[in-house]
Amino acid sequence: MDKEVSPARALNGTIKLPPDKSISHRSVMFASLHQGRSTIRNFSSAADPHSTIECMRGLGVAIREDGNTVEVEGTGRDGLQLPEGDLDCGNSGTTMRLLSGIIAGSGVPARLVGDESLSARTMKRIIDPLTEMGAEITAREDDFAPLDISRPRSLKPLHFPLPIPSAQLKSCVLLAGLFGDEQTEVIETLPSRDHTERLLNLTIEEKGEKKHIYSSREDGIPEQSYRIPNDFSAAAFWLVAGAIHPNAEITLPNVGMNPTRFGALNILKQMGAAITVSNEHDEGAEPVADLSVVSSELQPVEITEEIVPNCIDEIPILMIAMLYADGVSRISGAEELRHKETDRLAAMAEMLEKAGADFTEYKDGFEIKGDPNFVSESASFKSYHDHRIAMSAAVLSMMGDQSSQIQHAECTAISYPSFWDDLSLLTN
Ligand code: S3P
Repeated sequence: MDKEVSPARALNGTIKLPPDKSISHRSVMFASLHQGRSTIRNFSSAADPHSTIECMRGLGVAIREDGNTVEVEGTGRDGLQLPEGDLDCGNSGTTMRLLSGIIAGSGVPARLVGDESLSARTMKRIIDPLTEMGAEITAREDDFAPLDISRPRSLKPLHFPLPIPSAQLKSCVLLAGLFGDEQTEVIETLPSRDHTERLLNLTIEEKGEKKHIYSSREDGIPEQSYRIPNDFSAAAFWLVAGAIHPNAEITLPNVGMNPTRFGALNILKQMGAAITVSNEHDEGAEPVADLSVVSSELQPVEITEEIVPNCIDEIPILMIAMLYADGVSRISGAEELRHKETDRLAAMAEMLEKAGADFTEYKDGFEIKGDPNFVSESASFKSYHDHRIAMSAAVLSMMGDQSSQIQHAECTAISYPSFWDDLSLLTN
């Protein structure tokens, strides 16, 4: 489905954002590993977390859904059943990478499959440590899904300095470690999202600049009964839209404010975005707050390698903010974006080119010459079936002087099913 997006005269309103995708995945996986019932409120209705629900059902876990409330009858670590068919992770890298850790740890053999995009993303990063822990993994061309995972040998603990700052990789190894008699240790140098550590209450030691995170069978798995905050990564699209549009006032209640996730908030504030944070409080293990944004005058900014993990999913929309800053912005150390649902640096380069922007693409980033009066050219933007590329193109299109098209716009449902309705709400 192509979507036509018209220039927006104003952006006004309050948006109920989708529940956090990363926490939704984890809540249902960890509730399955807890022995007993968990009730998860405000669970995401997006496609990716539903891939996780279906996979856990495939492993014999009873899961009931009633609107946004999900009740999980956890089997405990040792109660997972041999699946009858493939476990389909759909488009979701988080499902495939975290579940691989659970499968390898539990020793229940399974085959994990994904859609075309997921089947083109490297799984080598998880195959290597899980193999060292005793798993046997067969992958297409050694690196790609389908993954056949079994563990014919006993589980070995791993001492694992993270080779890349990836929360999916960190979580995968820690989840396998949960099944081990001896402690597995993951060492993190650049902080990535820490929902796994928080929700499982794992032991963490800070040694200098590094975090040492431990997991083993000794760790009890807490019941996962809580309310999931709304998704900061979804908020980012409206924070940018509100900041760059000359006539905007947008309010976003109950947004997850985990410090390992809100790098984009700090960057936007540094650029001069008029964002207000209020009603800060905790919901379960996670901090939340209400956010609001009004039209702002933006200054250029620099994003470097060490802050990339904290805004990894927000870089495409931050690039749209950079187009409207008064000067040259730079992004470096962001090559990891080439390994997301699509090559997001290439997809953004194509989008900026079509929009008529002044920029240079590098292997690991961009240089963007912004202009507060930039008018995006009318175009048919390719989303490459990537939800975050489609939503970035939508925000850009609202800033044009004629309407534009977003190709395969339905892909926003991967993380944000009500995105197009919310866009209409803000523009009407
Ligand atoms: C996620 C981690 C990030 C992020 C993804 C969700 C998670 O991936 O891009 O959307 O829930 O752990 P990496 O850890 O591979 O960078």
